[in-house]
Amino acid sequence: MEKKILFPQLGGLMHGGDYNPEQWLDRPDILKEDIRLMKEAGMNCATLGVFAWSTYEPREGEFHFEWLKDIMDRLYENGIYTILATPSGARPAWLDEKYPESMRVDSYGVRAHHGVRHNHCMSAPIYREKVSVIINKMIDEVGSHPGLLMWHISNEFGGECFCPHCVARFQNYLAEKFDHDIDKLNHDWWTVFWSHNYNDFSQIEPPYNNGESSIMGLNLEWKRFTTWSMNDYMKSEIAILRERTPEIPITTNFMKLYDGLDYRIMAKELDVISWDSYPRFHNDEESFSDTLAENAFDHAVMRSMKKNQPFMLMESAPGLVNWHGYNKMKRPGVHKLASLQAVALGSDTVQYFQWRKGRGSSEQYHGAVLDHLGTSNTRVFREVAEVGRDLKKLSDVCGTIIKSKVAVIFDWDTMWAIEDMRGMAQETKNYPKTCIATYRNLMELGVDVDVIACEDSFADYKVIVAPMLYMLKPQIADRLKSFVNDGGQLLATYVTGYVDENQLNFLGGFPGDGLKDLFGVISEELDTLYPADCNQVNFVDGLTGQVHDYAEVLRIADAETLGTYQDDYYAGTPAVTKKVYGKGNAYYVAARLDDAAMKHLFAQMLTNADVAMRRLPKGVECHTRQSDNQCYTFYLNCTQETQTVEDVHGTDLLTGTVINGVLTMDKYQVVVLA
Ligand code: GLA
Ligand code: ZN
Repeated sequence: MEKKILFPQLGGLMHGGDYNPEQWLDRPDILKEDIRLMKEAGMNCATLGVFAWSTYEPREGEFHFEWLKDIMDRLYENGIYTILATPSGARPAWLDEKYPESMRVDSYGVRAHHGVRHNHCMSAPIYREKVSVIINKMIDEVGSHPGLLMWHISNEFGGECFCPHCVARFQNYLAEKFDHDIDKLNHDWWTVFWSHNYNDFSQIEPPYNNGESSIMGLNLEWKRFTTWSMNDYMKSEIAILRERTPEIPITTNFMKLYDGLDYRIMAKELDVISWDSYPRFHNDEESFSDTLAENAFDHAVMRSMKKNQPFMLMESAPGLVNWHGYNKMKRPGVHKLASLQAVALGSDTVQYFQWRKGRGSSEQYHGAVLDHLGTSNTRVFREVAEVGRDLKKLSDVCGTIIKSKVAVIFDWDTMWAIEDMRGMAQETKNYPKTCIATYRNLMELGVDVDVIACEDSFADYKVIVAPMLYMLKPQIADRLKSFVNDGGQLLATYVTGYVDENQLNFLGGFPGDGLKDLFGVISEELDTLYPADCNQVNFVDGLTGQVHDYAEVLRIADAETLGTYQDDYYAGTPAVTKKVYGKGNAYYVAARLDDAAMKHLFAQMLTNADVAMRRLPKGVECHTRQSDNQCYTFYLNCTQETQTVEDVHGTDLLTGTVINGVLTMDKYQVVVLA
């Protein structure tokens, strides 16, 4: 594959961040200093205007763009490009005062008052109109500016709106989805239960807090509708930009596995995926390397949405954030580690929120490259500048991608369905956590792992793990069967294939929709364990694995038993099975097993598939980016101790050190070999 360079103008990786000059227009000295210091920090990009509407248009129809042009000019003259946001993330007071229907209605049906941000109604026509006016004005003023690199749509889309307009759209959406046939909806939502049948689509209310919350299909469809509606809103902004500035790429910033929107649907409208990463570094619940592993998973989710090109780390905190429960400073060295972890996992940018701390309001103490002291003589600034220098050394990495043979399936619909499902334990369902642990266990075997949707193509993969794939949407079961039949290694777990896309249970045995033939098992019972309960799986090859939280009782049709339960009324019955299906293998793991046992199974699958593993110390990550004729291997010491990795050969691009055999890494150290 050819390199896919997102921004040829930059001549390498991007180093940038959110910049809010509108907060400092009365301080020309500071604005001047900003540019000097950005250069000192090795920045080549700034994200402007994320919340600048009231400065662009302080009163309806009165526009001020001179300051923006001036800043963009000066940045550009100094080699700093602009990512320009559309300002719809927050509204000026005059707008809400005059057009209150722009403000959201909450889940009790109460209209919000003016304030805060990220809270416009997605369907109010007047809001769309006002946004269209300001975007068109922006394009008139700076749409052809040579420094304009990219559009950043609004900011961190999220939330729901229960206003009459949105409710009417929801009803239309449902009518279309169910072919205007209310009986079809009643059937698929099982509304006869508790006498909840509808006679007409106009009777359907969204899941108000003080209203209907017992219909799983309704709850799920409301989530899907909210994604549809947000996407529809986003498309209304994108349409203007595509028409008037077709050559400028478009992104919006995502937030990890944000539960309110299925990002994969929105991703289709964007040219580049970008996201905001704020791990809780050094927390007291998990190891430091676990925090980084979760961050790696999040990067992989983002990367895999457009896996043939790099993604962007749009925001990260240079020092601390101000919204975690405890806002601990990143320890010396962690900034570089986290920044280069993003690059290792396929990002071509390292960007920050924020360039300079404001003097007031709710983010005054949020980390920034420049704090209130205002000079480059700070630890945080020095660490940022060091990242700037490192990114220059890694210029050639730009445009390379990760080619994984291994994928974990993470499905937004399944996340929503499992959250709402009653019958497991609310505190231990942990679908996202289970997917993250799966990813980490595979990563620790030294392979790169994509995180994909069940609708994505399986063609590039030899090994697929689908933890807790509770919902099987149409065709997914058949596609999984073909994957295995053609030689794939597939592993599924407890609570696979219980429901269809409306959350109606499959009849005739779980895993449903034909998967019981693929795995050769039927899951007869799901046992939920109390936190203090445990069981054990004894594998035929001598290994033992600990069971927590969930254990299914299986009936075997035609699968080989790899391990059996040790205790309880199902002692001696199968817990882990394997079935040869066509040219591949289908593994079923009926219980929540410990990491070591899962890794043991994954290693078997990787061996079957001829995917090379690497022996790595716990907490050392290894990722590889490549193009036709280049290959970069990143080693990241995500622990607080010195670590050694064997069988490493090459020259570290960051330090010039030649490694011939054993690589010794200081805590947090990153090494990149070409
Ligand atoms: C988000 C937002 C930013 C800022 C940061 C603070 O990512 O996009 O505007 O509020 O959080 O962490
Ligand atoms: Zn609304």
